[in-house]
Amino acid sequence: MPAGGFRMTDTTAPAAASGTFNIGGDLTVNRLGFGAMRVTGEGVWGDPTDRRAALDTLRALPELGVNLIDTADSYGPAVSEELLREALHPFDTVVIATKAGLTRTGPNIWIPLGRPEYLKQQAYLSCRRLGVERIDLWQLHRIDASVPRDEQFGAIKELMDEGVIRHAGLSEVSVEEIEAARAVFPVATVQNLYNLVHRKSEDVLDYCEREGIGFLPWYPLAAGGLARPGSVLSEVAGRLGATPSQVALAWVLRRSPVMLPIPGTGKRKHLEENVAAARLTLSDEDFRALDEVGQQEWAKQSG
Ligand SMILES: NC(=O)c1ccc[n+]([C@@H]2O[C@H](COP(=O)([O-])OP(=O)(O)OC[C@H]3O[C@@H](n4cnc5c(N)ncnc54)[C@H](OP(=O)(O)O)[C@@H]3O)[C@@H](O)[C@H]2O)c1
Repeated sequence: MPAGGFRMTDTTAPAAASGTFNIGGDLTVNRLGFGAMRVTGEGVWGDPTDRRAALDTLRALPELGVNLIDTADSYGPAVSEELLREALHPFDTVVIATKAGLTRTGPNIWIPLGRPEYLKQQAYLSCRRLGVERIDLWQLHRIDASVPRDEQFGAIKELMDEGVIRHAGLSEVSVEEIEAARAVFPVATVQNLYNLVHRKSEDVLDYCEREGIGFLPWYPLAAGGLARPGSVLSEVAGRLGATPSQVALAWVLRRSPVMLPIPGTGKRKHLEENVAAARLTLSDEDFRALDEVGQQEWAKQSG
């Protein structure tokens, strides 16, 4: 089996215009990535309704220059990782970033489970499903509050020492939690909910930028809400001849050089539209005006 080895090739592909980031200092990816949660069934449960469309979407990623693909053992469960293997194995030109730490008992149900032996088992099972000897980036999906966190971090350190995972990341964490984890293993990435109108993780993003840690914003399109006509982005989008989803992605890309957005879709047309955002440059004025609108929306939601 391949070791999940990766080389970046085409620098002219659309996603390359987003610039690059070195995960863990040695794994170079184009900043605009892809989230493979939406290639599963309703409620992120079971097979996708249109399997061919899902595979077609995944197979289009390398030619578009998307070489950072986020998935998880729990997406399906197993369905997303299996489809990725079917579409893209042996992953010569893409980095697969998977996760574990959430169990599933039905559609839309997510239950943290951070017992160290379970985390290790799930990493081994991800290797088997993906058909790789080593996972390039493995992320702890959630810190389980009912298990001492150092036991969870210790399992990650062991997986790294055993060569099962190359780099490790965290998801939905505070700065304090990142620092506690860094005492046990090198944290290469953080994946928190973040988009123009959801700004709870500003301090975490700033910390990641200072420390050179990759930041993967999940829900970069607010689960599709920012992609809809009539969203807060419509005016700027109309003026720039772009779509709202493209403006939402251009804004997060511009927000920080460590930002690695992973918009999700099961549709090739939406994928192509989203990737084209890598070539959209916002003026300082538009960036700031959008920032203000986003802050106001966030204040309304969170206040
Ligand atoms: N760490 C975590 O806890 C966590 C939690 C959630 C998600 N994630 C990761 O983050 C990724 C992104 O999150 P997400 O997929 O939930 O949210 P998202 O990227 O903000 O939005 C995805 C939704 O937007 C729609 N969409 C995408 N592109 C579109 C376009 N151009 N025009 C119109 N609609 C569009 C998709 O529907 P269609 O399929 O119809 O295009 C889908 O319903 C996931 O795929 C997953 O990898 C991580």
